[in-house]
Amino acid sequence: MGIIEREFKLRIQAARAKDLEAMVEINKAAAPKWHKLRHLNAGLKEKRAFVAFLGHIPAGFLIWTKDFYSHYFIDLVVVHPRMRRHGVATALIDAMENFCPGNKLFSSTNRSNKAMQTVFERAGYVKAGFISHLDRDNPELIYYKKIPSRTPSKAKPRTARRRKRARRK
Ligand SMILES: CC(C)(COP(=O)(O)OP(=O)(O)OC[C@H]1O[C@@H](n2cnc3c(N)ncnc32)[C@H](O)[C@@H]1OP(=O)(O)O)[C@@H](O)C(=O)NCCC(=O)NCCS
Repeated sequence: MGIIEREFKLRIQAARAKDLEAMVEINKAAAPKWHKLRHLNAGLKEKRAFVAFLGHIPAGFLIWTKDFYSHYFIDLVVVHPRMRRHGVATALIDAMENFCPGNKLFSSTNRSNKAMQTVFERAGYVKAGFISHLDRDNPELIYYKKIPSRTPSKAKPRTARRRKRARRK
């Protein structure tokens, strides 16, 4: 990987307290009407947030819950307007999927949000219904994906002691 590629490398990590400032800034720039500071704070404190960096720059974040009929639910994905179309949302969703193997993962977006619908569809999510009367004339489309279980890791190579024990049997 060259110097420039390295500078723009996409990295996802569990959000930490020090990421709050960047999350607030991203939220304000991307979706000012949504979700208050309390919501972001709770996601951070309860370790329900991932943050994406493009190089050293915070680019977006994801907050999840387990409140959707006790299933995992991606509550919010937000990418800074200047960082879009670099795969940030897709990578955040991927990180979430790695976090909950073997589970059902749900999320939602408004019917008017074509960009997010495309992100979900490209990530293999299917429509699971909709909820009306949340936003006027703009139903909330529910998306679903069954996250496969992790494939069991390969058998550990035998150490000298394990080989000896196996021979004794
Ligand atoms: C929707 C949003 C999260 C997408 O983030 P992103 O990082 O740009 O998405 P990705 O780069 O992972 O996009 C993956 C694919 O989805 C599709 N896509 C994403 N944004 C799109 C747009 N504005 N128009 C059309 N297709 C789009 C494209 O097919 C894209 O792949 P491509 O860039 O190779 O063509 C971002 O636009 C955003 O923060 N919007 C405001 C907040 C929001 O609506 N959040 C979702 C509700 S929870």
